[in-house]
Amino acid sequence: MSSTNQLLRSCVFIAISSCIGMNAYANEVETQLLTKFEAGQYSSKGADSCLMCHKKDDTVTAIFSGVHGDTGRSDGPMAQLQCESCHGPQGKHKGKNEPMIQFGADGNVSAELQDSVCLSCHQDSERMAWHDSLHTQEEISCVSCHSVHTAADPILKRGNEVASCTECHTEQKLDMHKRSSHPLAQGAMVCSDCHAPHGSLSDASLKQTTVNESCYDCHAEKRGPFLWEHEAVIDDCSNCHNPHGAVNDNMLKRKAPQLCQNCHQPDGHQFNVEQPEGVFTSGQSCMNCHSKVHGSNHPSGNYLRK
Ligand code: HEC
Ligand code: HEC
Ligand code: HEC
Ligand code: HEC
Ligand code: HEC
Ligand code: HEC
Ligand code: HEC
Ligand code: HEC
Ligand code: HEC
Ligand code: HEC
Repeated sequence: MSSTNQLLRSCVFIAISSCIGMNAYANEVETQLLTKFEAGQYSSKGADSCLMCHKKDDTVTAIFSGVHGDTGRSDGPMAQLQCESCHGPQGKHKGKNEPMIQFGADGNVSAELQDSVCLSCHQDSERMAWHDSLHTQEEISCVSCHSVHTAADPILKRGNEVASCTECHTEQKLDMHKRSSHPLAQGAMVCSDCHAPHGSLSDASLKQTTVNESCYDCHAEKRGPFLWEHEAVIDDCSNCHNPHGAVNDNMLKRKAPQLCQNCHQPDGHQFNVEQPEGVFTSGQSCMNCHSKVHGSNHPSGNYLRK
């Protein structure tokens, strides 16, 4: 065995054994696995030994059409411990007598242990915030989103992503089908245009540092600077918009004037402004006069009026 292989073997071992070791609630399977890891009970024939029994299962052999089955990749599983890079040492496994690592929500080991297998190769800048993400805390594991026994992992195709995410995120699914929304349902945008699927240091795992920076990516004209600014806009676009969709035009959380009255006096003014008849009952109301709600660069655009 080459020294890279030994390095990898010990990396996988350290990742997994420290994961089991730290977990006071390690189940019986995990404890059994740890013994096999420590004894280094890997098979000498690699995948061939597994395929003696598992080659009739098409879902298993499909891995050879994908990147993880590529024997030519020195950094991939097949150039290393092969099937056992992910499923752990075979030991005396011939079926049910001794377990292998099983993945998925119904897997036989914790989500943390499953993920430590994947992270033994994929711990890089993309997944730096993984451990602190809400997904991790909720035991959503790598394989909740990814499949490896396939020629092509479905979620990596842009056209499939939204459907994968909204299998769990039903609230966002409802929002994106409302009267006004980002073109998520049409496939012209994906969740990961705004969110980092592996977590980030920002609220709501946004790719950018703030909500507003996320929006400026595509709506640069709203960044300003403006001569006459609206504090509510500088503070947070989601004061007024639901980024996933809403029943009101322009993805507004509420209709004006209620939207504005969330923060302003009931009639918007501390003093008397002469108002046209019935202005507060019409849909546009406040914006009839304050038409530049995001900010104005007009010399006489004070109070966001032009
Ligand atoms: C890159 C990690 C990885 C490698 C390498 C790997 N597997 Fe898997 N295996 C998984 C994951 C993850 C699943 C869960 C299903 C999925 O995500 O595709 C799985 C599922 C399975 C299952 C259960 C399939 C089912 O029908 O539910 C078997 C059996 C299996 N693998 C055997 C093998 C064999 C044999 C090899 C070597 C030829 C192998 N695996 C290589 C990660 C891996
Ligand atoms: C002597 C036959 C035999 C060999 C060799 C063998 N397995 Fe298995 N394996 C089985 C049987 C039988 C099952 C139980 C299948 C079931 O319960 O439906 C099983 C179950 C599994 C499972 C759990 C999947 C499930 O659906 O329960 C995984 C993962 C797995 N084997 C991986 C491997 C890997 C990786 C190797 C090689 C290192 C290997 N097996 C070698 C016979 C074998
Ligand atoms: C032994 C190392 C190793 C392990 C373990 C491993 N991977 Fe990979 N994985 C790779 C390599 C190498 C690539 C190809 C990277 C590239 O093309 O830059 C890859 C690519 C991927 C990709 C991109 C696939 C594509 O088609 O471009 C995904 C997603 C992925 N791995 C998920 C996983 C998951 C989930 C697990 C755990 C079940 C896992 N990997 C375990 C080595 C590994
Ligand atoms: C919530 C769903 C989700 C989870 C959980 C998830 N991923 Fe991903 N992953 C994605 C999506 C979507 C992409 C493609 C878009 C992107 O790269 O931002 C991706 C891309 C990747 C890629 C290829 C591009 C890259 O980032 O290098 C790899 C490798 C990968 N994921 C590995 C992992 C590993 C390892 C885990 C667990 C630690 C994991 N993923 C957990 C959704 C997920
Ligand atoms: C245009 C950018 C954008 C897109 C596209 C987007 N989101 Fe969001 N998402 C946000 C912002 C911004 C927040 C923070 C909301 C807030 O502060 O009110 C958020 C919050 C969330 C939250 C946290 C729940 C909450 O209300 O705080 C979840 C879950 C979520 N998004 C899932 C998704 C899913 C799933 C998709 C794809 C269907 C998606 N998002 C697409 C921008 C986006
Ligand atoms: C297997 C179910 C599942 C899948 C698939 C899934 N999520 Fe989640 N996600 C959750 C759970 C559970 C939470 C915890 C909070 C909650 O219930 O909203 C969460 C939380 C989030 C949050 C809030 C994070 C935070 O830090 O506040 C965002 C954003 C999010 N998911 C985006 C996505 C995106 C984007 C995808 C697809 C790439 C995705 N999710 C796929 C289950 C899932
Ligand atoms: C990846 C690019 C992208 C990002 C990031 C983005 N948008 Fe959009 N936005 C679009 C596209 C595309 C449209 C649809 C334009 C059209 O239909 O003409 C749109 C439309 C809108 C609309 C008008 C909707 C309607 O019903 O006409 C609003 C409001 C909006 N975005 C707000 C936001 C907010 C707030 C954010 C930040 C949370 C944001 N956008 C981030 C691309 C983006
Ligand atoms: C104080 C409430 C409020 C805040 C905060 C706000 N908007 Fe708006 N937005 C509106 C209203 C009201 C409309 C309806 C059209 C109009 O009157 O300009 C709108 C319309 C839009 C539109 C579609 C029409 C257009 O002007 O292109 C986009 C895109 C948009 N907003 C993006 C943003 C972004 C990006 C932010 C954060 C930088 C933001 N909005 C913050 C109230 C707000
Ligand atoms: C999230 C709270 C919030 C919402 C919602 C909001 N505003 Fe404001 N608005 C502010 C704050 C804060 C200021 C600055 C302090 C002040 O003058 O009260 C401001 C200032 C203003 C000003 C005075 C600007 C100037 O040049 O002095 C106008 C006009 C205005 N808002 C109109 C609106 C309209 C119209 C809406 C509804 C579309 C709205 N606001 C919604 C918080 C909000
Ligand atoms: C008929 C036109 C008109 C309508 C409709 C209107 N405003 Fe005004 N508003 C003005 C004018 C004019 C000023 C500036 C007063 C001045 O010149 O001193 C002003 C000033 C303001 C200010 C800043 C001064 C202050 O008192 O703090 C806010 C905030 C404001 N309006 C909010 C609103 C809101 C919210 C609505 C809807 C509920 C609204 N306005 C509807 C004309 C209007």
